[in-house]
Amino acid sequence: MKDKKWIVLGLVVFFGLLLFPLAWNMLVKAAPAPEVVLTKKAKAAKQCVMPKEYMTSEHMQLLDLWRHSVVRNAKREYVNPEGKKFDMSLSNTCLDCHSNKEQFCDRCHNYASVRPYCWDCHIDNPKGEE
Ligand code: HEC
Ligand code: HEC
Ligand code: HEC
Repeated sequence: MKDKKWIVLGLVVFFGLLLFPLAWNMLVKAAPAPEVVLTKKAKAAKQCVMPKEYMTSEHMQLLDLWRHSVVRNAKREYVNPEGKKFDMSLSNTCLDCHSNKEQFCDRCHNYASVRPYCWDCHIDNPKGEE
């Protein structure tokens, strides 16, 4: 009966090792992606310039395209695939719907540790709202 103690201990160690990676993963990866907040205006619009999946992963490319178009080609009107027109402007268009930059752009960027330098020149609060 003396062995029983060791068997139990063995089992504890065995399952401990088995579960450790799982527990570790839960601890390390548990931090969820941040919830971004949509303004009333964005909610009313229902849709972004492009479908959500595209915006989530490609918004920087879209902004690049817009910048290029305005600065190089002096073309300011963007027509999305549904035929909806947008003025290609970071401050006046993106931040018109997403005027809550802190709870939207910044929240995601802080999480991903990206610091777009755009706001050195572009107004991040075009309407002076909070
Ligand atoms: C050194 C200053 C500066 C920085 C930094 C800068 N821009 Fe610009 N950007 C300008 C100027 C000047 C224009 C031309 C404005 C115009 O013609 O209306 C412009 C135009 C644009 C436009 C089209 C017009 C508009 O009003 O939005 C977009 C889009 C744009 N930039 C995006 C960006 C993005 C995205 C970043 C960051 C990755 C960025 N810019 C960083 C100076 C800057
Ligand atoms: C007409 C209002 C409107 C304009 C203008 C607009 N957005 Fe959006 N945006 C929305 C809405 C609404 C959603 C949520 C879409 C959904 O849930 O299907 C969204 C979603 C997004 C997302 C994805 C958020 C997530 O949870 O993954 C990003 C990124 C984004 N927008 C960036 C931009 C940028 C950059 C611009 C300018 C090029 C822009 N938006 C212009 C309304 C707008
Ligand atoms: C769903 C999360 C999310 C939201 C919301 C979001 N971004 Fe981003 N953004 C990212 C990530 C992640 C990157 C880095 C992507 C990469 O490096 O490939 C990024 C990169 C960028 C870049 C390029 C920066 C660089 O230095 O390369 C610009 C410009 C930018 N975002 C603008 C915006 C603006 C403006 C808004 C708000 C209207 C916004 N983003 C909202 C996640 C987000």
